[in-house]
Amino acid sequence: MVTPGRHTDSRARIEQLAAHASQFVECYGPGQAPRLFFSPGRVNLFGGHLDYNGGPVMPTAIDRGTFIAARSRSDRLLRMASAYDRQVVETDLDQLPSARVSKWVDYPLGVVLELTTQLAESGSALPGGLDILYGGDLPIGSGLSSSASICVGTAVMLDSLWSLGLSNLDRVRAALRAERHFVGVQCGIMDPYAIGCARAGHLLWLDCKDESIEYLPIDGAQLSILVTNTGVQRALAASEFNRRVDQCAQAFDILRSASVEATCLRDIPLEVLESERGSMDPVLANRAEHVIHEVRRTFEAREFLLAGNPEGMGGCMTQTHESLRSLYEVSCPELDLLVEAAATCSGAFGARLTGAGFGGCTVTLVRRGDEDEVQASLEARFEEEFGRCPQVDVFEGDPGPREIDWA
Ligand code: GLA
Repeated sequence: MVTPGRHTDSRARIEQLAAHASQFVECYGPGQAPRLFFSPGRVNLFGGHLDYNGGPVMPTAIDRGTFIAARSRSDRLLRMASAYDRQVVETDLDQLPSARVSKWVDYPLGVVLELTTQLAESGSALPGGLDILYGGDLPIGSGLSSSASICVGTAVMLDSLWSLGLSNLDRVRAALRAERHFVGVQCGIMDPYAIGCARAGHLLWLDCKDESIEYLPIDGAQLSILVTNTGVQRALAASEFNRRVDQCAQAFDILRSASVEATCLRDIPLEVLESERGSMDPVLANRAEHVIHEVRRTFEAREFLLAGNPEGMGGCMTQTHESLRSLYEVSCPELDLLVEAAATCSGAFGARLTGAGFGGCTVTLVRRGDEDEVQASLEARFEEEFGRCPQVDVFEGDPGPREIDWA
């Protein structure tokens, strides 16, 4: 587990956070200097749409994320603002809203509610008010988990300012419950774990059936993770995502009767699906088929990673994309083109959409040193087809949410 505060941050990161502290002062006025926190985003390389089906996933945290500046108040007001619009949302800690308020504020508010409810239930004194400013350098709504980044970062910040003494997993679970119960997205466990349990230079192996984790080193001297943002807004992401969760639950309900030991869709053998397929809704059968093959592919990708075989890993990514496109139906033409274009670059091992899909980003596994060639080629193909340039970034790993020492 990563202990917040143990990492030495780059000068550039410290300067970014110091600029965020200046914005905090502009927003809330002078006084005691705020404390500063960074919480990364994540990119998932293997295990697409497996977490809520009990399968394994292999994400990694990235060096882009959420900035949080926070200062204690002497009263019981909770004030939250975003550096994007600086509109301050104010609530009383003793009368926190029980229903959603407005778009982005629901995420941190959900975490505040989780943690204050836990305190109240355990009979502990409720903590004092806070002024908080959020910002960051993570593209929002692009499949890089800006929401889990805010939620886990908020849990880490509250734990620290309110001296709650939480464990890493307590913070991860508070973030997860906030998104599920308060914000209302039926998200799986991958994103808060990928962020809260991150270790730089490693992919996280998270088995979503028993929530066990392992750290698998990724050779940063040989491999780069390149992320291309299609710029396609994921308007349907929340409703269509919840629909996929529901369809998988329905498929499992049908298939479990022929596989008594199974506790989730991950456990269903391919033969069971094949024997039941004729009597199933074809859409549900396709969703299950993706999940069953994706579980196998994720175990294969793990073996390729451990054996130092990037060609094998890249092949799994490209097959995953095809399955997400045709069987799971969460892709779009912009994502497909980027995966197709990556397949023609000699420096790219493979690519797939990352996150929920319906727009957002692809992740491409690239030979270190070949990033510029791959980037130029993806940009040219995309521009030729869609008349605009996508945003391409090479992300490094990150050790997870932490307080930034900036004074
Ligand atoms: C979203 C969800 C995750 C996961 C991915 C798909 O990012 O938040 O829990 O299901 O989609 O792999």
